[in-house]
Amino acid sequence: MTIRVNESNLEFHLFNNEVSYIFRVLEKNNQLEHLYYGKKITHRDSFYHLIEREIRPSSNMFEGDHTSSLEHIRQEYPSYGTTDFRYPAHMITNNIGSHITNFQYQGCNISKGKTTLQSLPATYVESEDEAETLEVTLFDDVLKTKMILSYTIYSERNVITRNTRFVNEGEESLFLENAMSSSVDLPDDQFEMVHLFGAWAREGHVETQKLAKGVQSIYSARGASSHVHNPFLALKRFDASEHTGEVYGFSLVYSGNFLGQVEVDTYGVSRVMMGINPFQFKWKLNPNEVFQTPECVMVYSDHGLNGMSQTYHELYRTRLVRGYWRDKVRPILINNWEATYFDFNEEKVLDIARTAKDLGIELFVLDDGWFGKRDDDSSSLGDWFEYDEKLPNGMEGLSEKIDALGMKFGLWFEPEMVSKDTKLYAEHPDWIISTPYRRASHGRNQFVLDFSRQEVVDHIFGLMDKVIGKSKISYIKWDMNRYITEAYSAALETDQQGEVFHRYILGVYDLYEKLITKYPEILFESCAGGGARFDPGMLYYAPQTWTSDDTDAVERLKIQYGTSMVYPLSTIGSHVSAVPNHQVGRMTPIDTRANVAYFGTFGYELDVTTLTDEEKAKVSEQVAFFKKKRNLIRNGIFYRMQNPFESNETSWMVVSDDQTEAIVGYYKVLAHPNEKYNRVKLQGLDPNKLYAIEGKDTTHYGNELMNIGVILAGNYTDRASEYWSREHPNDYDSKLFVLKEVK
Ligand code: DGJ
Repeated sequence: MTIRVNESNLEFHLFNNEVSYIFRVLEKNNQLEHLYYGKKITHRDSFYHLIEREIRPSSNMFEGDHTSSLEHIRQEYPSYGTTDFRYPAHMITNNIGSHITNFQYQGCNISKGKTTLQSLPATYVESEDEAETLEVTLFDDVLKTKMILSYTIYSERNVITRNTRFVNEGEESLFLENAMSSSVDLPDDQFEMVHLFGAWAREGHVETQKLAKGVQSIYSARGASSHVHNPFLALKRFDASEHTGEVYGFSLVYSGNFLGQVEVDTYGVSRVMMGINPFQFKWKLNPNEVFQTPECVMVYSDHGLNGMSQTYHELYRTRLVRGYWRDKVRPILINNWEATYFDFNEEKVLDIARTAKDLGIELFVLDDGWFGKRDDDSSSLGDWFEYDEKLPNGMEGLSEKIDALGMKFGLWFEPEMVSKDTKLYAEHPDWIISTPYRRASHGRNQFVLDFSRQEVVDHIFGLMDKVIGKSKISYIKWDMNRYITEAYSAALETDQQGEVFHRYILGVYDLYEKLITKYPEILFESCAGGGARFDPGMLYYAPQTWTSDDTDAVERLKIQYGTSMVYPLSTIGSHVSAVPNHQVGRMTPIDTRANVAYFGTFGYELDVTTLTDEEKAKVSEQVAFFKKKRNLIRNGIFYRMQNPFESNETSWMVVSDDQTEAIVGYYKVLAHPNEKYNRVKLQGLDPNKLYAIEGKDTTHYGNELMNIGVILAGNYTDRASEYWSREHPNDYDSKLFVLKEVK
C-alpha cells in the first residue's frame, strides 16, 4: 500500500520506503492544506498534530476567525486573492471578468498503476504494481468547474509525479490564465536552488544560489524549453553535497514555455512551482472541455545530488523513453555536419561512410543540406525532396549504397521550419507563425511553421513520409534552429491567441507520434541548435538528444556534467570532433575527446578520410572499446565526483548494477608543473570486492578505492607515475580507469 487516506479527517499520505507526502482537506473551507514532503515517516491515523498555526496580522477568510488566513496555511494548489497574496498555482477568469476561485474538495480516487496524459508525454509504468495514483477532485460551484489533482507515487523509486486537469462543466467559457503542474509549500527556506543555465553552445551549466527572500525563477518564453534554462530545478540543503544530504528535484516533462519558481515568503515558507509559463498563456476552456497540464516529476533524495540524478536517470531511461530503442544498445554513429557542412555530394558522403565502416562505425548520418537547393542556411527548409546535383541517385540510391556497405543510414530534418524560397512557402505563405500588420522576425534566415494547425502537421508528415518511405532510413535527427517570435496563429480566434505556444508544442508531439507509430524502428535524436530542447518531453519520443553544438572536449565537461543532473547517459548525444575544434579552436588530444564522448551515446563528427593512419588506428581502438563497454555505460549507475565548475579537474564514473565493473573518467584541463599529490575517490563500488584496474598489476578493495582513492602519483615500485606522464605534462589530458572485480 503506498497511498493511504485517513477517511475520518480527510488526510492523504503517499509513501513508500523512502519518501512521504502528506496533505489534508481544510475543514474551514474544504480546500487543501499541505502538511509534509520529505523522508518517509510512519503512517498514523491522524496527522492533526502536524498542523501549524499562529495568529498573525492578516486578512482572514471568515469574519471573526483570526486563524483562517490562507497566507499562513501551507497550500496544496494555491489560488490568489482570497487571503493568500503569493503567486498562485492556478488562475481562471470567468465571464464577468473575475479571477477568484474556490475549489472545494469533492472526493478522491485511488487506482493501481499510472494513467497516461492525453496528447502529452509522461512517465509510465509497465505493471500496475509499480505505482499507485491518487486523484483528488475539487469543484468550484460558481465556475461549475472541476479541478483534478493527480499524484502518482512509484513504489520502488523516490518519485512522485503530479499533474492537474480542469474540466469545465458549466455553460460559459472560461479562461485559464495559469495552470501549474505542481506546487509545494515547503516549511522553510534553508536551501540553495540548483538549476541549469546557458546559451547556444554553452548549455547545461550548473548554477547554485542561496534562496533569496521573494521570488526567483527559471523560465522560457521562447517557444522551446531553450538553451538558457532547462525545465528543472532542485532545492538542496546547504550541507548537501553530490553524495550526501537532502535534495528535492522538480523536472517538467514538457518542451515549450515553462516556469519553475520558488517564492520565499516573509515567514520563510518556500513555495516551489513548475508548469507551463503563465506569461503568454491564456487558454479558452469551453463547456465540456478539459485542459490537461504537463507532468512534473518530483524526486526526493537524502543522498545528495547524485542520489537525485540517479533516480531521474533510472526513471527516464526505463519509464519515459519508450519503444524499440529503449533497451537496445545504440549504434555508434558518424555525422557529416562538422566534416562537410553544406559542401558534399554523394561521392564525398560515401567516402566518409566507407572509411567509417572500416573503423567499425555503425551508422552514417547525413546532416543538413541534402534537400531543395540548400547550400547554406538561407534556403530550402520545407522542400523535403533531394538536391539532385548533390545526390543524383536520390535518397533511395544513397541509402542503398550505404546499406550495401553494411552500415545503417540516418537523415537530418528540420520539420518545423520553412525558408521563403520554397514550394512550401509559395503554396502556403499563411502557414508561418506571424502577427498581422507586424514584421515577421527572422532566425537563422527561416520562419517557424504554425504547428498549432493540424493541416500543417499533417502536410509535413506527408512530405517526410515520402522520403522516409522510399529510403532505407534507420535514424532521424530532428533539428529546430530558432525560437518563436510574433506568436500568433491565423487559424485561431482572437480570444485564443494565448494558446499558440502550447498548441504548437502539442503539434510537435503529434508529428513525432505519427512518425514513431508508422516507423517504430527508427531511432530519433532530437536537437534544437544543440540542446535547446534537451528536456524530458522530447525523450518520450526521441530516446537521445544532441546535447550541444559545442563539441570541444573541455567545454563538454561542463555541459555533460550539468546535463547529467537530470538526464541519463543513454540520452546524452556526444561526439568526437576534429581539432582545432570548430567552436573554440582548441587542440585537445584525440584520447581526451573520446574519453569525454564515451560518457554519452558516443559517435564521431569529423572527416575521417583526412585522418592520419595513426589517428585512424586510435579511432578503431576507441570504437572497439566503446562496443565492449556500451552496455555498462548505458545501464550502469552514474556518479559525478569532481566538479568542472569548481576545479581544474573533473571526474565521473559508471558502476554496473552488480558492482563488478566500473569505468572512471578523470580529466585535467590545464597542466601544472611539480603538481600537488592527487587522488580520485571512487563511488558506488562494493567495499569488500577486490578490483583490478586495467593496465595495472595491483588489485584494490572497493573500500580502498572509495576511501583512499586511485592514487595518481607514481610510487617507489615503478618510480614514475603510473597514471600520469610527468615527463610530458599536457593541457587537456585525461585518463580512463577500467575496473573489474577479481575473484
Ligand atoms: C544545428 C545542429 O545542432 C547541428 O548539429 C547541425 O545539425 C546544424 N543545426 C545543421 O544546420
